[in-house]
Amino acid sequence: MQDLVDHVLESCRGSWKSGRVATYIPELSKARGDAVGLSLFSPQTGLVSAGDHQYRFTMQSVSKIVSLAVALSILGPDEVFSYVGMAPIADPFNSIIRLEMDSPHRPHNPLINSGTIAVLGLLPFEGREERFSAVRQMAAKMMEKSDVEVDMAVYLSERESGHRNRALAWFLKSVGNLSGNVDDILDSYFLQCSLLVTSDDLALLGATLASGGVTPLTGKPVVSPEVARIVRTIMATCGMYDGSGEFAVRAGIPAKSGVGGGICAAVHKRFGIGACGPSLDEKGNSVAGVAMLSALSHHLDIEIY
Ligand code: DON
Repeated sequence: MQDLVDHVLESCRGSWKSGRVATYIPELSKARGDAVGLSLFSPQTGLVSAGDHQYRFTMQSVSKIVSLAVALSILGPDEVFSYVGMAPIADPFNSIIRLEMDSPHRPHNPLINSGTIAVLGLLPFEGREERFSAVRQMAAKMMEKSDVEVDMAVYLSERESGHRNRALAWFLKSVGNLSGNVDDILDSYFLQCSLLVTSDDLALLGATLASGGVTPLTGKPVVSPEVARIVRTIMATCGMYDGSGEFAVRAGIPAKSGVGGGICAAVHKRFGIGACGPSLDEKGNSVAGVAMLSALSHHLDIEIY
């Protein structure tokens, strides 16, 4: 397996040159565009990694699968999916247009920005500390870490530049679809996006989801098999935003991307895979990450379709 992971990394490494690091959050423009890391966990092989697998970057939208897992675990799917849909969407992750045009004004799915903000609003906690702690603790458990650090510079930059997310949240509030304090909910969102991880961490996160909610190294149940199944399914249909269909054809595995350059993939009962590559395509997905996951999926014959 190490040979395969090394080979996939080396054959895809140069693809970073066709993308660009995110700049709309100023602090993200400092990321290393040429960093490329790949990590895979299976019960048979353990963790196998190559390249910049210890390079730290912020989770960004990969954290949305964690907050979804928290909400599903506390509230159950019926409650969560009465506030957000399950449908893929052909608009960018931070688009506002459909939210206003649709009636009811319900986010299309929990992995676009408005959907995650709505999910965070559902969590039965007062104040940003408790809400964010629930997400941070779940992230740590799923990645088998004692804690997950926040990149304070990225958090402050997100908070400073997050006007679109504020617009989405206040719109949801104005139509009665966001309970709780809007500023606290947004702050929790900015904080969870700023959690620092490596591709090794994302492989373990994927492995927890792949196994039905049991952590890969110590065998602890952290979410139910039903929650893990729903999260994997929403990853497969909506995890790569408006690039989800293309990714389904190219790689064919449930995955979630973030503009920090991370991708977490979960192949039921088989693999958790983490990829890192801060150079992004025009949809906000890691160029090298998509290339590596597509190549790995073909080599291992793990397309789910
Ligand atoms: O809300 C934002 O713009 C970011 N903090 C997260 C978006 C993101 O990662 C989209 N991913 N591809």
